[in-house]
Amino acid sequence: MAPHDALLGWDEDTTAEAYAEFTRKFPMYGATSSDLAHRAELTSSRLVVDLCGGAGATAQAILELVPASAQVISVDNAAAMQRVGRRIVSDPRLTWVTAAAEDLADHVPSGADAVVCNSAVWKTQVPQVLAAVHRVLRPGGRFVFNIGGGFAGVRHPDEVNTRTGPSLNALILQVAADDYGYIPPAVPQSSPKLSLDVITKQLANAGLTLLSTEVTAQHSTMAEKKAWLSIPVFARPAGGFTHTQRMDILNKAYVATTPDTPTVTSWLVVLAQRPW
Ligand SMILES: C[S@@+](CC[C@H](N)C(=O)[O-])C[C@H]1O[C@@H](n2cnc3c(N)ncnc32)[C@H](O)[C@@H]1O
Repeated sequence: MAPHDALLGWDEDTTAEAYAEFTRKFPMYGATSSDLAHRAELTSSRLVVDLCGGAGATAQAILELVPASAQVISVDNAAAMQRVGRRIVSDPRLTWVTAAAEDLADHVPSGADAVVCNSAVWKTQVPQVLAAVHRVLRPGGRFVFNIGGGFAGVRHPDEVNTRTGPSLNALILQVAADDYGYIPPAVPQSSPKLSLDVITKQLANAGLTLLSTEVTAQHSTMAEKKAWLSIPVFARPAGGFTHTQRMDILNKAYVATTPDTPTVTSWLVVLAQRPW
């Protein structure tokens, strides 16, 4: 089943504005985007695609590395995210295309040197996206993306060793149960949505070569986690709460933590290539 944020919410101004503000104040999306852009080896590129580019944090990281003559195309299906992106990322090399990642090849010329996709691929129909990426990449072109640790089923050792009490998510569920009588849905034990095994097979099926993978750690704080959980599309718990109620639950949960408590997010970073 797709995560709830994949189904609704990205094409809403409240989410787009809150997301962009979060990326301005906190390093997470800028840092993960910059990591991917460096792995894509963009210094002599002519055409780069920012896939599921949202409000432009990844495009910014790409623009820092591509030559002055390069073209960058940011593709996302949420017009609201791109409206905010157009306002804050202004660069003559950047074009915005509102389209589904699955339809990438209908909107982007072939011959791209790289496709970079930060913090999004598991929200898409991955086999279709990989086929489209194969069509737009030039031979030897790179596809660089990451998968959230929970969706890939990986945890960096730093995440395992940095447990400093209950997570904010656990506290949210507790407050929701205590104050709102919330009963979490019984979720059957399931395997990760996009494990290394699964993505390896899907890349091969799409004709893409897996060059490397790495589990990375994003070090952060409870304050950043709280800010992230305030973005409407990420606010919890899922189900029949208003955003105001979710923020009430979050604020009460946050009281049981301290702002500088360290938190760690794991990522599976994947570097693939269209064969020469
Ligand atoms: C967490 S944001 C990442 C945005 C950007 N890459 C960054 O790092 O800031 C996820 C983005 O994926 C987009 N997205 C999700 N599914 C998509 C799909 N099937 N096609 C195009 N965009 C999609 C959402 O609209 C959202 O803007």
